[in-house]
Formats: sequence, structure tokens, C-alpha cells
Amino acid sequence: MADVTVVLNQKGGIGKSTISVNLSATIAEVVGRADDELAPVAAVSVDPQGSAVWWAERVGDDLPFVFTDAYDDLAGIQRLREVTSVRHAIIDTPGWMTPDARRPGADPLGKGPIADAVRAALDAADFVIVPLEPEPMGFEPTQNTIERIIKPRGIPYLVVISNWDPRDGTVDLEDTKAFVRAQGWPLARTVIRHYKLHSRAAADRQVVTRYPKSRVSQEAQKDFLNLALEHQLMLADARKAVSA
Ligand SMILES: Nc1ncnc2c1ncn2[C@@H]1O[C@H](COP(=O)(O)OP(=O)(O)OP(=O)(O)O)[C@@H](O)[C@H]1O
Ligand SMILES: [Mg+2]
Repeated sequence: MADVTVVLNQKGGIGKSTISVNLSATIAEVVGRADDELAPVAAVSVDPQGSAVWWAERVGDDLPFVFTDAYDDLAGIQRLREVTSVRHAIIDTPGWMTPDARRPGADPLGKGPIADAVRAALDAADFVIVPLEPEPMGFEPTQNTIERIIKPRGIPYLVVISNWDPRDGTVDLEDTKAFVRAQGWPLARTVIRHYKLHSRAAADRQVVTRYPKSRVSQEAQKDFLNLALEHQLMLADARKAVSA
């Protein structure tokens, strides 16, 4: 039976797809490969714009994990949990707007096909990763995502600061950490740093585990190895809590 992790933040462009693809690749390189008999990692996209799909097509046969586009097969997401050949599924979701979410009685997920896709992903989720960039613009959608969408469902989650450029200094990073802690949200110790390598990766048909060896690529890989370790340890804790 697979465990299912959803990468979610309704704010767009904050690193969901980058994290989904590279976390899948990192876990897959450690626990097994798609061309092994057992394909333990599935990266799943429910993004109609399909940036992760596009990425997967470009990576082609060399992908270290199984890839599926589930936007047109939402029932397939629930079946993921029963698939014995997959041990870990990571679902990439799109950013989306909820203009009337604050109206009394409104569903905070909103309406429409993207809301339906996100709902299906959350129905199957054991765990949620919430990426957040170290800049105040992302705070409100993140609050809506966690307080009104994740918490009421009781799904364990972890906030991960992503795309932090060390050259920008630590002020925004520390402000963001303080904001997350003030909310009482669990914050990953791992920060995914900004590297040009990541934004070039799709065009270069690469995932983080396959970047050409260099000091920079090793740093970039370290972020994802640390995140994979934190994620798996928290997931194990969450499963223990469920079975206790
Ligand atoms: N750690 C990083 N280093 C460098 N570039 C990054 C990093 N994380 C994200 N980016 C870049 O920022 C842009 C947005 O990232 P990404 O597509 O992962 O966000 P997203 O949350 O999936 O967006 P959407 O909500 O539109 O699906 C992309 O161009 C990506 O390459
Ligand atoms: Mg995306």
C-alpha cells in the first residue's frame, strides 16, 4: 500500500512542482528505480497546465520514478493507495484562486475542476507538504491553505521554505520562519535554496539527482536529501499516530 503526500499551496509559482519532481526523484534514487521490478515511487500531477507532465515528457525514459497525470482520472488517485507496486506517491497540485472563499458558508477550496482535483488529492492524502517562499506576499494564501483546507481535514502537514536565495541575506528568511512559528505550524528544518540549476533543469531534461557533478549541484542535492529524510521521518510518525 502506498503512502500519499500532496504538495499544496493555493498560491501559484512557489515551488510545488519543483519540490514534487525532485522529492520524487530523491526518494526514488534511494529506495528504488522505475526500471526495477518494483517501482516504489509515483509522481502524480493533477495540474491541468501540466508543468510536471511537460517535465516528465522531457525527462523521458530516464525518469527514476513512475509518472502519472491524474487530472482526468481523479478516481485513480484513490486507487493509488491500493496499488502494491507503489510505496510512495507524491501528488503535485496547481495553484488556484478562491475569490469567494471568505463568504460565510463558502467551501474554502472553492468550485470548479481544479478544486475538484485538489479535493480528490486531499481525500487520499496521508501527509501534506506546504511550500512557502520567504516573501510576505505568500502569507495570506498559505494561511487559507493551512487553516481552512488542511487543518479541518486533520491531515498532518509540514511547511517548507522554498526558493530562498542566500544572496538575498537572511532577513526575509528569518521573518518567514518567525511568521510560520507564530502560527504554530510545523516548519521543516530544511530550506530549499534557490539555484539556477533548478529552473534550468526542465529544459535540460534533468531531475536533481541527475545534475552534473559540481559543488553547486551537490548543495542542491543536499537540500532534497534533507527534505526527503525529514518528510519520511514525519510520515512514519504520522502513521504510528494513526495505528496507535
Ligand atoms: N529552489 C528553486 N531554485 C530555483 N528556481 C526555482 C526554485 N523553486 C522554484 N523555482 C522556479 O520558480 C518557478 C515556479 O516554480 P514551480 O513551477 O515549482 O512553482 P509551482 O508552485 O509549481 O507553480 P504553479 O502554482 O504555477 O504550479 C519555476 O520557474 C521554477 O523553476
Ligand atoms: Mg506547478
